[in-house]
Amino acid sequence: MRLVKFFVVFAFAAFLAVACNTQQTGGPASPETPATPEAPSSPEVQEPPSELEIGKAKYTEYCVKCHKEDGTGGETEIEGRTINADDLTSDKMKAEPDEEYIEYMVKGIPDEGMPSFRDELSDEEMKAVVRYIREELQK
Ligand code: HEC
Repeated sequence: MRLVKFFVVFAFAAFLAVACNTQQTGGPASPETPATPEAPSSPEVQEPPSELEIGKAKYTEYCVKCHKEDGTGGETEIEGRTINADDLTSDKMKAEPDEEYIEYMVKGIPDEGMPSFRDELSDEEMKAVVRYIREELQK
């Protein structure tokens, strides 16, 4: 009987020793697995948006509500006031130079209800908006 008890205790101790041992050897081995360091070097390569994409996004965000998605504008009621936004696709607008567009965006046309976008749009974004109008709306 005593012998059995001793054997059980011994077996348990042996089991513990093995368990600890495998934990010890198992521990330091795992950081060496080569899969881990490779992970951060392969993030999805995200291309920055093109000028045209920026232009479209900004036009959609800031200009569509008055000038319409297709750029034709027309009468719109904004904050209880009826405004008549220019048709950006007209021959007259096609002939106007880029600087003119930029100037309208920078200064706005307060008397007619077009706000200034000086604080919303950077120089690059304004150029991108003009490019979008030229390439997608005036074609
Ligand atoms: C709140 C309405 C509103 C928004 C938003 C708006 N516009 Fe206008 N826009 C107008 C109105 C109204 C006119 C016409 C002003 C007039 O009668 O002279 C106009 C005129 C213009 C003109 C001048 C056309 C000309 O006669 O030479 C340009 C260019 C223009 N808008 C571009 C833009 C762009 C680009 C955006 C976005 C960044 C924008 N607008 C956002 C209302 C708006």
